[in-house]
Amino acid sequence: MDYKDYTAKKISELSGIDIAEIKKLIETPPEQKLGDLAFPCFTLAKTMRKAPQIIAKELSEKFAGDMYIEKAEAVGGYLNFFYNKAEFTKSVIDEVLEKGENYAKSDFGEKKTVLVEYSSPNIAKPFHIGHLFTTALGHSLARIYDFLGYNVTRLNHLGDWGTQFGKLICAYKLWGDDEAIQKDAIGELLRIYVKFHEEAEKNPELEVTAREHFKRLEDGAEEETALWQKFRDLSLKEFERVYDMLGVNFDSYNGESFYSDKMPEVVEILQDKGLLTESDGAKVVDLSELNIPPCIILKSDGATIYATRDIAAALYRHRTYDFYKNIYVVGTAQALHFQQIFAVMEKAGWDWAKGCEHVNFGLVKFPDKKLSTRHGDVVFLEDVLNEAVSKTREIIEKNTPDMENKDEVSKKVGIGAVLYTFLKNSREKDIIFSWDSMLDFDGESAPYVQYSYARGRSILRRAGEIDENADFSAVTSPDEYALVTMLSGFYDAVLLSAEKNEPFYVNRYVTNLARQFNKFYVSCPILKEGIPENVKNARLMIVKAVCAVIKSALYLLGIETVENM
Ligand code: ARG
Repeated sequence: MDYKDYTAKKISELSGIDIAEIKKLIETPPEQKLGDLAFPCFTLAKTMRKAPQIIAKELSEKFAGDMYIEKAEAVGGYLNFFYNKAEFTKSVIDEVLEKGENYAKSDFGEKKTVLVEYSSPNIAKPFHIGHLFTTALGHSLARIYDFLGYNVTRLNHLGDWGTQFGKLICAYKLWGDDEAIQKDAIGELLRIYVKFHEEAEKNPELEVTAREHFKRLEDGAEEETALWQKFRDLSLKEFERVYDMLGVNFDSYNGESFYSDKMPEVVEILQDKGLLTESDGAKVVDLSELNIPPCIILKSDGATIYATRDIAAALYRHRTYDFYKNIYVVGTAQALHFQQIFAVMEKAGWDWAKGCEHVNFGLVKFPDKKLSTRHGDVVFLEDVLNEAVSKTREIIEKNTPDMENKDEVSKKVGIGAVLYTFLKNSREKDIIFSWDSMLDFDGESAPYVQYSYARGRSILRRAGEIDENADFSAVTSPDEYALVTMLSGFYDAVLLSAEKNEPFYVNRYVTNLARQFNKFYVSCPILKEGIPENVKNARLMIVKAVCAVIKSALYLLGIETVENM
């Protein structure tokens, strides 16, 4: 049963005010001791021609004897509702246990199409830690939208086109070592790419050759295309290793190259609409009315660029998917780029451009250095994940050397710990990458939540069969009740995450749930000698419900659970 709905309906019947209006006014009090819901009567004063205090008082009396509301207390102009705890607990626990992993799942999204573009690494460049940020966020958002009944398509807009491929082809022809490439494709391609830049400083002719190669690639020349394909295939193979470790998948890998032949149409449309102006030989869309620099569409040598490919991609996505939302999970560093292309699309009169949204995020900082991609000090994501797994393993070897499923636990906990870190705070905040806090089993971390889950599962295993006809009237202590009301809060956490494109609301939710579960575990003994059978059963049902919700909340974050740790 939906208690908020029930209460709102009853207030509506008693006051004659529209239920939708009432639902908008109902609040959740900041502290449980003030009640489960609060209804401010101030706005009713006008329509009802009475002082809010009097309205609150009169309404409160009419709630006397209600089966679901134990008490409706008038305080000032507020009406504070206290649910019948046993009834409320029963209704929440029954619902969770009945729906299991589908608890809080809904058809809110009405099958509207949401495109989530994330990860989008660059071919022949390392999949670095910044790409892990977008991968973690996008993967989680896709699951959250899916959970809410949207029709989700996951897009990986690979960086597989651009003048850098001319440089890479040139570098490969000069210094490419196939044997080394087979062993460590991206490492080797990166090495020759860096070498290209060093050599080109001494010998600018190389830049000219590189431009020629790219031109030939754009024109579909055989040799260049074959090399480009080879770099792309090898890189994707490496990226897929990382995606497998993370459990991430995509519906489309259409990257920038896919849009290269779709750009002339964009140029033509913008030209026809009179949006293109000349600037130093380049064709640009002026955006001075928005106080931002012009968006370059065609460079002076006729070559198209990143922005044009993105505009072509958006148009293609509109035509192919007729999306409700087209979300780009890309770092804040590219905020201006998205502002520019969205502005161009609006100027082109594309109404659907309103559905495009840049979901930005901050930087990943290592306590001592910032990340960079051009030079040698790049942090490869695969190394980070492997290190997370081995560090977790060390902790386990030290603390619980007899654990049976060490391999599984190290992997799921290690990788979960990394993902959690990216979903822990509001995405716009920079992240300080610290192994200590990531793997702090007692802190705000994935291992802490995963451990709470495993602890719950272990209690359930030890208990054996549960009599699910439990009577909840004996389990209404503050720690029990707080845990139950938190379970019912899962709905709001998921909705809020989608509304703000912030998985951290689900993350914070599940962390608080785990914390409250551990409090409950300490203050409400379950399997101890002398606990009455009805109390034991009721508590076991709560444990079972908490485990189900932790598991699905972690799933929404892309984090796996283990039954034992
Ligand atoms: N490949 C780019 C990078 O690694 C990100 C692509 C972002 N997506 C887009 N549609 N522009 O920085």
